[in-house]
Amino acid sequence: MVRIMHKDIGDILFSEETITARVRELGAEIASDYGDKNPLLVGVLKGSFIFMADLLRAIDAPVSVDFLAASSYGDKAFTSGKVDLTKAVPADTVKGRDVILVEDILDTGVTLKYLKEYMGTLGPASVKICVFLDKVTRRQVDVEADYVGFVCPDEFVVGYGLDYSERYRNLKYIGSLKPEVYS
Ligand code: PRP
Repeated sequence: MVRIMHKDIGDILFSEETITARVRELGAEIASDYGDKNPLLVGVLKGSFIFMADLLRAIDAPVSVDFLAASSYGDKAFTSGKVDLTKAVPADTVKGRDVILVEDILDTGVTLKYLKEYMGTLGPASVKICVFLDKVTRRQVDVEADYVGFVCPDEFVVGYGLDYSERYRNLKYIGSLKPEVYS
């Protein structure tokens, strides 16, 4: 059964083992940077949920977690340029907190630029960004991540939370989708 998904994948860009090792490093870095500040990790649904689950457990220090939902792609392969915030975070949860926005991928930057500004309006002590993948060559707006799992080539990637048309999120690795699947 699983083969049905794997046959759509061209290359495996980041294996399960590579991901596990890198997420462990990111967690250690965040634990060391924040110490006992108890940062609030805010995951951006849906894509971040698997990365968030692993990252949280890699942080050996107090942390809190919440989620918001945003979408700018719908079921399309290109950004609409407009971010739709479909689930917000209550302002009293964020006020005075050290927030870390957690995303699966930073691509054009439209989503995270919008969300960082939105978070800023809720009165946090600080806002940083942690992304699993950074497609640096695709940036259209000025936004940078403070923590990056991997710099990612400009390919259609799926797995580890990332989808194409809501599929492939459950792959344990990051793979490139064969062009015939989405064209
Ligand atoms: C993806 C991803 C980021 C955004 C990044 O979300 O999770 O939120 O695109 O792209 P950008 O930097 O060009 O804005 P998507 O809209 O596909 O929703 P999903 O997380 O539910 O898959």
